[in-house]
Amino acid sequence: MTDTPTLFVTGGCGFIGSAVVRQLISETDALVVNIDKLTYAGHRSTVQPVADSDRYHFARADVADADAMARLFDQFAPDGVLHLAAESHVDRSIDGPSDFIRTNIVGTYTLLEAARQYYRTLGGPKREGFRFLHVSTDEVYGTLGDEGAFTETTPYDPSSPYSASKASADHLARAWHRTYGLPVLVTNCSNNYGPYQFPEKLMPVVILKALVGDPIPVYGTGENVRDWLYVDDHARALRRVLRRGTVGETYNIGGKSEKQNIAVVRTICRLLDERAPRDDGTPYAEQITFVDDRPGHDWRYAIDCSKIEQDLGWTPEETFESGVARTVDWYLAHREWCERVLEDRYAMERLGTAS
Ligand code: NAD
Ligand code: DAU
Repeated sequence: MTDTPTLFVTGGCGFIGSAVVRQLISETDALVVNIDKLTYAGHRSTVQPVADSDRYHFARADVADADAMARLFDQFAPDGVLHLAAESHVDRSIDGPSDFIRTNIVGTYTLLEAARQYYRTLGGPKREGFRFLHVSTDEVYGTLGDEGAFTETTPYDPSSPYSASKASADHLARAWHRTYGLPVLVTNCSNNYGPYQFPEKLMPVVILKALVGDPIPVYGTGENVRDWLYVDDHARALRRVLRRGTVGETYNIGGKSEKQNIAVVRTICRLLDERAPRDDGTPYAEQITFVDDRPGHDWRYAIDCSKIEQDLGWTPEETFESGVARTVDWYLAHREWCERVLEDRYAMERLGTAS
């Protein structure tokens, strides 16, 4: 791949995709084509810091629209694709799996096919350098008990409609490599956190519920474990895999930062106590409320990321402590952004009870 590649980023108005777009524009010379349908989870404000660059293009399109994808490949002749567009929230997949099947499975298939047809037309260095990076999740591996960590060879065993749809997409991506020779790479990453995350996932929910004085919902006992990675570290890892990864390989990406949910929630409450104390000076932790568990709730995720560390020299830069503090500060400074993206879309009610 050249130093000035044209790259497609699908889902580039979402949480992680926008971090990738912002990095690519500010830290590289790539031309970036952000392909996003702008669902409830996608907002152009997430890329506003780089949107004026003449190396940034936005295409509002659905990855499941074959004609639109073919036109974009024709028009821009990309050197690589970072495929992040997805329905991403487990709780929503429990309430309504259909969009997850359509976007995550059919959408990935459609994009792979468009990429394959385009790749067939390439020759020389452009063909040799072309890469398709399919971005996935550690949730495809299912749940861990109290010991061990997911490696790239852990068998797939997804629990939720979301993770089952991502698992399907991963299988398709690998099949397009083995069968058609499309230069595919797959990454499976743990829980991301940081700026611009839509306020439906744990960290922003806790921060916003705390600030308005609402109960802070903790599912089940709060002892479930997630392995937290700051979003900019994930974006750096994806760029590294795209550039230096071996075609056909899978790379697990994780933060080496396992925490019980209740510990995450208490950490955020403590940070808020310091930065935005409640009027009466009592601790935010008083708002913590244990609620009915998520159906099919995976107990524990932990990523063994030694392969990407050893083979590609990537390692997370942010510690959990500094990353959470940055995240809390970002949400405190961006209350207006939260209100804007939530407006008419989500009233922060409980999702995913399967009731
Ligand atoms: P997100 O929900 O914040 O953003 C998804 C983006 O995709 C939105 O901008 C949305 O508008 C767009 N989109 C949805 N359907 C589309 C379609 N049919 N066509 C085009 N665009 C569409 O998601 P995220 O948290 O940024 O996750 C991005 C990717 O990373 C997903 O593939 C997800 O499975 C994966 N991932 C997420 C995490 C995490 O912790 N958030 C961890 C590992 C992997
Ligand atoms: O592991 C990677 C996955 O991480 C990604 O593939 C998903 O796209 C991403 O959404 C995330 O999935 P989780 O289900 O782990 O994230 P969520 O923020 O929804 O929940 C994190 C944990 O916190 C989980 O154990 C459920 C719990 N939880 C969540 C919410 C929203 C609560 O206790 N209370 C809540 O209000």
